[in-house]
Amino acid sequence: MSVFVKDLLKGKTAFVTGGSSGICLAIAETFAGHGASVMLLGRSQQRLDAAVAAIQAKGGTAAGFAADVRNYAALEEALAKAREAHGLLDILVCGAAGNFPAPVMGMSANGFKAVVDIDLLGTYNTCRAAYPHLRKPGASILSISANHAHQPYPLQAHVCAAKAGVDLLTRTIALEWGREGIRANIITPGPIDDTEGMRRLAPTPEARQVAIQNVPLGRMGVKDDIANLALFLCSDAASFITGGVYPCDGGQGMMGPRNLNPAWEATRG
Ligand code: NAP
Ligand code: COA
Repeated sequence: MSVFVKDLLKGKTAFVTGGSSGICLAIAETFAGHGASVMLLGRSQQRLDAAVAAIQAKGGTAAGFAADVRNYAALEEALAKAREAHGLLDILVCGAAGNFPAPVMGMSANGFKAVVDIDLLGTYNTCRAAYPHLRKPGASILSISANHAHQPYPLQAHVCAAKAGVDLLTRTIALEWGREGIRANIITPGPIDDTEGMRRLAPTPEARQVAIQNVPLGRMGVKDDIANLALFLCSDAASFITGGVYPCDGGQGMMGPRNLNPAWEATRG
């Protein structure tokens, strides 16, 4: 490259579900820092307002839309408003998710369904409702999955089932929409520090240690680890990359299904 590039997404628009907190807020902040107009979607208006204000305070362009990704009509409405305000979408990040640790017999059918509906149906709803607003050619979709998609974790049957679906749904979209110039990729984060996900899955110092022991690099990731990979995958620098599953996990995904956290041991008596 003949010039240094710091505005990788200058002039682009990005719609980020789950962008009001955690990993997806870090992604939105990074995108905004590289010149994109970012639109965030979550259920809580208060959380959206805080996230938008934080991005604007750093000089970024941001807007928030309150909707539940399980509600197709509400998503359609949010996306139509986003299109009206900011034009066609260059980037769509599907990151909204739910999680709680529970064994199969410790969750109701409705508990299982809640997570599958947010993660999997929510990703389907988002992609389908966004389709008319995606730039063709040129748009890039990114799903935030997890190693749960390809290996079983105790107390996480709902998330494993949902994220496995997210991966294959996203790769199918990459196949079906590729000829229109739409790319679709997946990031599988490992344990990321200072997130709601880790507060739920590793709530004690002992559980954190177990999580870290299962990472070859010997630490949890930080939110910017995921944001930096997202920036690459959603930029024109990755214009020939589609249908890929990219771990950003310190190597955790190589460790196999042996994430035996203390809560799991307790269920075995
Ligand atoms: P988080 O801070 O709790 O983020 C979840 C986001 O999704 C929030 O903005 C939340 O806002 C939104 N959301 C939840 N349910 C929703 C719904 N029904 N409709 C619309 N928005 C909804 O979580 P995180 O830990 O950063 O996780 C972010 C992503 O990374 C998830 O896809 C997760 O599976 C994945 N991941 C995380 C880790 C980790 O270590 N944290 C590891 C692997 C994968 P509202 O509650 O206001 O709706
Ligand atoms: N153990 C077992 N079941 C649980 C549970 C737990 N810790 N937490 C919730 N559930 C069950 C509820 O009991 C309910 O089932 P029921 O109707 O049979 O009683 C079902 O899950 C749905 O709960 P509800 O609170 O009505 O769902 P919701 O749609 O409002 O919230 C959740 C979805 C449960 C995933 C909620 O934790 C959430 O909103 N999470 C978003 C944030 C998040 O999880 N971040 C981490 C992302 S990695």
